[in-house]
Amino acid sequence: MDITYYVACTVDGYIATPEGGVDWLTPFHGDDDYGFSEMYRDVDGVLMGSGTYEFALQQKTWPSKDKPSWVFTGRSLPLADPSVTLTSDEPAKVVEELTSKGMKRLWLMGGGKLATSFRASGLITDYMIFVIPVVLGEGIPLLAAGGHLDQLDLIESQSYPNGIVRLHYQSA
Ligand SMILES: NC(=O)c1ccc[n+]([C@@H]2O[C@H](COP(=O)([O-])OP(=O)(O)OC[C@H]3O[C@@H](n4cnc5c(N)ncnc54)[C@H](OP(=O)(O)O)[C@@H]3O)[C@@H](O)[C@H]2O)c1
Repeated sequence: MDITYYVACTVDGYIATPEGGVDWLTPFHGDDDYGFSEMYRDVDGVLMGSGTYEFALQQKTWPSKDKPSWVFTGRSLPLADPSVTLTSDEPAKVVEELTSKGMKRLWLMGGGKLATSFRASGLITDYMIFVIPVVLGEGIPLLAAGGHLDQLDLIESQSYPNGIVRLHYQSA
């Protein structure tokens, strides 16, 4: 299974403010979709932690109705859309089930806590990191501290006129 952690982070390694805010990304929303459509078209499903899900629930419409999503949570949360499945299973078990259903590519949307669990289980095959030219000083980290060393290969990098740099790494 290919699992891509496709995410935007600040130069100091945060994906959101301590309160979960991503307003610092707003000035960078423009004509370029930073390869998002291509990535999204090619995935069979979306994975997210409950922190990310609860943030998405605040939006007016569910953004990925055309793809099945799995939300990792130990709680009973409202269902945003019929395409959403809540799961309290471990990442490896969920990935095994989705693999047995014939799925080949998944977008690990985040956040940092769920991505840390996926990394700990050796499940992240690709990192597609968009470094945003912003320093927040504090926030929710891209990945939590700790764990083993992972060697990565740089597959591609691209810089954009607005200062964003896209880094595509693969697990070696
Ligand atoms: N910049 C970006 O591109 C980007 C992308 C994604 C998200 N975000 C931001 O990131 C923030 C959320 O990130 P986060 O790191 O705080 O939370 P998160 O990873 O989205 O969710 C973590 C929560 O998921 C649940 N969970 C269930 N099984 C888990 C497991 N195996 N490993 C880890 N968590 C598991 C736990 O809560 P319960 O079991 O109690 O429900 C846990 O507290 C949001 O504010 C969102 O806006 C930013």
